[in-house]
Amino acid sequence: MPTTKVVVNIPGESAYDVRVGAGALDRLGQHVRATAAGGKADRVLVITDSNVAPLYLAQAKRSLAAEGYRVSDITIPAGEDSKSIAVAGEIWEAMAACSLGRDCVVVALGGGVVGDIAGFVGSTYMRGVSVVQVPTTLLAMVDSSVGGKTGVNLSAGKNLVGTFNQPTYVCADINALSTLNEREWACGCAEIAKASVIDSDDFFFWLLDHANQLAARDEGVVQEAIVRSVVFKADVVAQDQTESRGVRECLNYGHTLAHAIEKLSGYGTYSHGAAVAEGMRFAARLAADLLGTPEELVETQDELLDALGLPALSWSASPADMLDAMKRDKKARGGQVRFVLPRDVGNWELVEVSDDILRAHLQQWTASKA
Ligand code: GLY
Repeated sequence: MPTTKVVVNIPGESAYDVRVGAGALDRLGQHVRATAAGGKADRVLVITDSNVAPLYLAQAKRSLAAEGYRVSDITIPAGEDSKSIAVAGEIWEAMAACSLGRDCVVVALGGGVVGDIAGFVGSTYMRGVSVVQVPTTLLAMVDSSVGGKTGVNLSAGKNLVGTFNQPTYVCADINALSTLNEREWACGCAEIAKASVIDSDDFFFWLLDHANQLAARDEGVVQEAIVRSVVFKADVVAQDQTESRGVRECLNYGHTLAHAIEKLSGYGTYSHGAAVAEGMRFAARLAADLLGTPEELVETQDELLDALGLPALSWSASPADMLDAMKRDKKARGGQVRFVLPRDVGNWELVEVSDDILRAHLQQWTASKA
């Protein structure tokens, strides 16, 4: 099956391609060479992690070397702990020690952690070098590799330091997904489901019709789901790159409750995707109450999430603790919790929800788990 090219065109930024499909990694070098920065560069640094290096590093380096690049690589330990200023510092030092100049290209080969830290390091080293994203998880392909958010965590919270810096090319080779476990797969599916509800009837009902095939990893359906998600995300980011125009917030659908679940259950207990799916179920019910969103959306969304292997969680916490966690989230404003709520598929609103209403909904939510 041929690969699909999506062009991301953000006002004020250079346009870039996202190439989606099986075999794209073998043509990485060729596509990097075709970018403006890659056309002039001699040196490439591949940043990857200890899970991905044994699987895809040699293939990525081979493709880059075949285009005449001198390729170096750095492997960081797999896991969220690597998204730190300390690890970023080690990478900056290593880049300087091997005399990489402003004309080098940084390739981020891995999932969201690698993409975020490599994007951050690349956007700050010598005030910024070209960054190419090569996502190897479904979540990174449909969300984090596109749109230019980079960052590292602080002890006070996730992603508290970072930049907006668009990549110059994104290579999403769906062959790399063959090694993904079920939990990671479902994580990506949650973000695809999120995108479909916010985007349109066309995406949502297509996904509903193909949910079983996506869960079964049918190649054609996987490729189309990624392409549709990337087109959606590119459109959102083109309207509001820096989340300052009230558009990019829509990508936070399901995430308000999800962040509280992840924090209170202990990071890693539930996957990000499982928490986002639960957050979507909660937000749709809140929307039905506050905005008169059709019950049909609530039920059809439940059906979609079930089919994608994202069942309702049996876990809950006290409404008081959940409310407190949401008010402390970095997306809250002035202590008020804000939710992205769907009026209907393809029609959303950012709504500040009062503590009383939220407490009542959280009580219902907790009671439903008893
Ligand atoms: N993942 C959310 C965003 O890119 O804004």
